[in-house]
Amino acid sequence: MTHKPIHLSGRVVVLPTTKGVFEDLGGVLMDAAQQAVRDRGVFHLALSGGTTPKPFYELLAQDQRYRDIPWHNTHLWIVDERHVPENDDRNNFKMIRSSLVEHTAIEPSNVHPIPTGEPDPAGAYEQTLRTVFSPVTGEVPCLDFVLLGMGDDAHTASLFPHSPALGEQDRLIADNDGPTVVPPARITMTYPFLNAARHVAVLVVGAKKAATLRRIEQVLANDGPQPQALPITGIRPTIGTLSWYLDAPAAAAG
Ligand code: 6PG
Repeated sequence: MTHKPIHLSGRVVVLPTTKGVFEDLGGVLMDAAQQAVRDRGVFHLALSGGTTPKPFYELLAQDQRYRDIPWHNTHLWIVDERHVPENDDRNNFKMIRSSLVEHTAIEPSNVHPIPTGEPDPAGAYEQTLRTVFSPVTGEVPCLDFVLLGMGDDAHTASLFPHSPALGEQDRLIADNDGPTVVPPARITMTYPFLNAARHVAVLVVGAKKAATLRRIEQVLANDGPQPQALPITGIRPTIGTLSWYLDAPAAAAG
C-alpha cells in the first residue's frame, strides 16, 4: 500500500484503520449534535444506507463514548432509499433502524423514514421536510449533519452518473431511475438540499474504493467538479463544511 497524501475537495481525514475512522467520525458527529442543540435546540441528522456505515451505526448505538449524543433533540432523516417496502432487506431504513434507531432514545415521531408505501414517496417526504422545517418561501432547509457514502462509480446518495436526479434544481427530494441507476429505482436527496447542509461527511473505507478516489483527485485537479460523470464531485456545500473520512486502504495510491 502506497501512502501518498490524497487531495479532495474539503477536509480529508485519513486514519490507519476503519475502526479508527468510525471512532473519529463518531466524536465529530456527537460534537456537531451538541453544538446544534446548544445553538438551535434541535439536531437534524441525515444518514445513508449501504454496507459501509452499518458497523459505524452500531458503534454509535453501543459505545459509551457516544452516550451524550442528544437523541432526545434529534430528528433523523434518510438520505436516499430504494423503492421497496420497509421490511425488505434492501430498504436503507430497515438497516438504520435495527443498527441504530432501536437502541437510542430518539422520539419515534422524530424518525422520518422515506414512505415507500405511498404513491409518491418523494413528494410525501418533501412535504414532511417542509412541514418540520417550515422554511420561509424560497429558502432551502438546512440539515445539520449529513453522512454520505460513495459507490465505485462515484455515486453518492442515489445520485448516479448521468441520471435524471442530478439535474434537479428545485426539489429537496427526487425520484431517480435509468440505465446507470443500480436497481431498484431510487428516491434521493438532491444536490440543492444536500449542499445546503451545515456539515457533510463522506465515509469511504476499503481498498475497493481507492481507484475511484484517486480518479476523483485527478479530475478535480485537472478539470474541476464533474457531477455528471462523478456525482460525488457535485457535493459542494454552499455555506457548510465538507469532510472526507477515509481509512488507509481507501486512501492508498496504486
Ligand atoms: C445506498 C447509499 C449509497 C451508498 C453507496 C456506497 O443507499 O446504498 O446511500 O449512496 O452510500 O452506494 O455503498 P457501500 O457503503 O455499500 O459501498
